[in-house]
Amino acid sequence: MTVNGASPMGVVVPEEVAFAQQVPRGEPILQVRDLVKHFPLTKGVLLRRQVGAVKAVDGVSFDLMQGETLGVVGESGCGKSTLAKVLMNLEPATGGSVRYKGEEISRLSGSALKAVRRNIQMVFQDPYTSLNPRMTVGDIIGEPFEIHPEVAPKGDRRKAVQDLLDVVGLNPEYINRYPHQFSGGQRQRIGIARGLALKPEIIICDEPVSALDVSVQAQVINLLEQLQGDFNLSYMFIAHDLSIVRHISDRVGVMYLGKMVEIGSDAEIYDHATHPYTQALLSAVPVPDPTARETRDRIVLVGDVPSPANPPSGCRFRTRCWKAQERCAVEVPLLAAPGWLSGAARHDSACHFAAEREIGQSAAEREIGPGPAERDDGPGTG
Ligand SMILES: Nc1ncnc2c1ncn2[C@@H]1O[C@H](COP(=O)(O)OP(=O)(O)OP(=O)(O)O)[C@@H](O)[C@H]1O
Ligand code: SF4
Ligand SMILES: [Mg+2]
Repeated sequence: MTVNGASPMGVVVPEEVAFAQQVPRGEPILQVRDLVKHFPLTKGVLLRRQVGAVKAVDGVSFDLMQGETLGVVGESGCGKSTLAKVLMNLEPATGGSVRYKGEEISRLSGSALKAVRRNIQMVFQDPYTSLNPRMTVGDIIGEPFEIHPEVAPKGDRRKAVQDLLDVVGLNPEYINRYPHQFSGGQRQRIGIARGLALKPEIIICDEPVSALDVSVQAQVINLLEQLQGDFNLSYMFIAHDLSIVRHISDRVGVMYLGKMVEIGSDAEIYDHATHPYTQALLSAVPVPDPTARETRDRIVLVGDVPSPANPPSGCRFRTRCWKAQERCAVEVPLLAAPGWLSGAARHDSACHFAAEREIGQSAAEREIGPGPAERDDGPGTG
């Protein structure tokens, strides 16, 4: 989050929006524990037998606090969308637990699931394909009222839809238009209006601005922030772009190959990252200032992301980590605050050797020395 209204991505944001809520408030509204989603890999045409599994989400735990925005970042294929779909119950969980206001929801079905689902809505990445081209905007936004008549407005539904158009900054008179008559940013506003129709408490935004022009991105982000204040919404905000995530998030979680590897406040993650993967991601964020660009120390990760069907033993990042040591291959690092760190560096990080990055440390320095490998106060050391 910036102070003067200029976002890290160079887009000017109105001050009242730039000063959106920065600290987690209230109680956890969603508690996710050891969540697992494996997609079976099968062989054979007639007798399909399982030969393995894509471990898209593999033991993810975090809390979403009431009224906060939790950003989730990570490379393509690390499991962000799968995590979102499992939280929404669009995909059944393979294991683990999701509690909404204390109630287990991951194994609900039928009317109980329907009742919970209206409180957790999703905004998708692509406003071009996520809206039915044959439906009017009024029908698209009003459709949730057909699915959930128990919470639909008692009186004039058309008026309720027009009010929603107004809330997201669209002309209520556009109610009879079709999606193709709108720009990308306007279509995303329609998607957000639809998401708001049932007055949810949580909105999961999966790359909501990735398909939009940079200038339009800022408008949609501003709208989301304004709606959060107006309706006391809690957001999970998934994105590739670390600058956008920092701008909108109170806390940020970093995913790698189906695991959450680091999570903390935006300052803890962006200014005091302790997991090598987060440090590598941050070092690759474009820097607008040419002088800063020349002097900064970029970490170039070697190798490809391993297959989620066959992840490395121990720490999944070890095949690309310049700090990896023997212990990393045999012991899975737990996501916990390292006891050997203090201050802002002491936040949840799944690394046996979690440490803030020293200037000058880079991928070239693979021989990083013994480091704190032999320390006995790290997580998982017993
Ligand atoms: N229905 C499915 N069946 C089998 N594998 C799947 C399925 N959906 C996702 N996967 C796999 O699970 C892994 C995680 O995919 P996911 O879409 O969640 O990643 P992501 O982090 O959202 O990526 P992106 O940033 O590209 O959107 C990938 O390896 C993907 O191929
Ligand atoms: S546990 Fe080891 S391999 Fe994993 S991030 Fe930390 S140092 Fe690197
Ligand atoms: Mg995705």
